[in-house]
Amino acid sequence: MDRQLLTNGRLATLDAPEGFGLIETGAVALDSGRIAWVGPDDALPQAFAAWPRRDLGGALVTPAPIDCHTHLVFGGDRAREFEMRLQGASYAEIARAGGGILSTVAATRAASEDALFAQALPRLAALIAEGVTTVEIKSGYGLDVETELRMLRVARRLGRERPVRVRTSFLGAHACPPEYRARPDAYLDEVCRPVLRAARAEGLVDAVDGFCEGIAFSPAQIARVFDTAQELGLPVKLHAEQLSHQGGTALAARYGALSADHVEYAHEEDARALAAAGSVAVLLPGAFYTLRETQVPPVSEFRDAGVAMALATDCNPGSSPMTSILLAMNMGCTLFGLTPDEALRGVTVNAARALGLEDCGRIAPGLRADLAVWDAGQPAELAWRIGFNPLRERLFAGTPC
Ligand code: NIG
Ligand code: FE
Repeated sequence: MDRQLLTNGRLATLDAPEGFGLIETGAVALDSGRIAWVGPDDALPQAFAAWPRRDLGGALVTPAPIDCHTHLVFGGDRAREFEMRLQGASYAEIARAGGGILSTVAATRAASEDALFAQALPRLAALIAEGVTTVEIKSGYGLDVETELRMLRVARRLGRERPVRVRTSFLGAHACPPEYRARPDAYLDEVCRPVLRAARAEGLVDAVDGFCEGIAFSPAQIARVFDTAQELGLPVKLHAEQLSHQGGTALAARYGALSADHVEYAHEEDARALAAAGSVAVLLPGAFYTLRETQVPPVSEFRDAGVAMALATDCNPGSSPMTSILLAMNMGCTLFGLTPDEALRGVTVNAARALGLEDCGRIAPGLRADLAVWDAGQPAELAWRIGFNPLRERLFAGTPC
């Protein structure tokens, strides 16, 4: 039997309505990749007492971080665009001039499956090195049949060949490709929605995403993609209110979305709609920072309405070339005013919710034993430091790796 007992840990269980859910000197019993018991060392039931045990020496233990919003698979780079932005060009101007997402589309179309896989590996390794055990990966840099499917296959392969759980989101409604220039509706009907069906038939899709923005698709256009998702029984999520207020958040809430992401320009009524729908607000401070945005998401409205907030890297070549979940936590606090416990909730329990996962994100009996052990004294340290990785050990379904 694959049983072990971790004792003398400082456990941030996140298994409480708010705060860290701290157990100062705690034990976790792991059985066949699941958590069998968690509690104070001195309350350990007799039944676990003889299990092989490991003293953690007071180290901090948290649920392993979950990166619930990434575009980890892509071809090429956007360093030139970075230089252009430093000289004053805006993200939207570059996009309208055919750069931005479309330049990555060209590079991704030109890349083989093996090349995309090889390029994604170091990005994934960087996340794993910080303890991440679940990563969401989107398509959306193909925008044609072959490349969208290729991206999703690469995402699945990453999950097979590395010790990490991958959840895929189909993001065909990311941008209108050059061959459909000024014909976005035709693109959605002739390519995006049929590819979604094909990807679903191949078992490549866990959720459906879109980009609702002036430079991308309108709420009415996204609604048609969401209708197809619903018909296929797939949950939805949406890049909404990133650069302007378009009504994407309200639309996402109407469809009972898992999450609305970015949401810098969301209003108070959007917060209420998300709360009523049980949708998570996924905050992406890496994109806010990279694009030097000034509109911060309405965090106090989210708090007041009771909206669960998650944090993610948004790892992508354009708006967030970031592969650090710890930095996302730090930025969530420093740029958006989250508390360190909100930041940790944001990459654990609320990130799991943003992916529709109920078996991870907390340290609680019955959940997967996806845990991170840190050389840190208190949980706030994880969000406090910048560019420092205190991970001691990562357990992926109970296995240190
Ligand atoms: O989440 N907002 C749209 N999509 C990505 C950016 C993609 C890109 O610039 O390549 C985002 O920020
Ligand atoms: Fe994104």
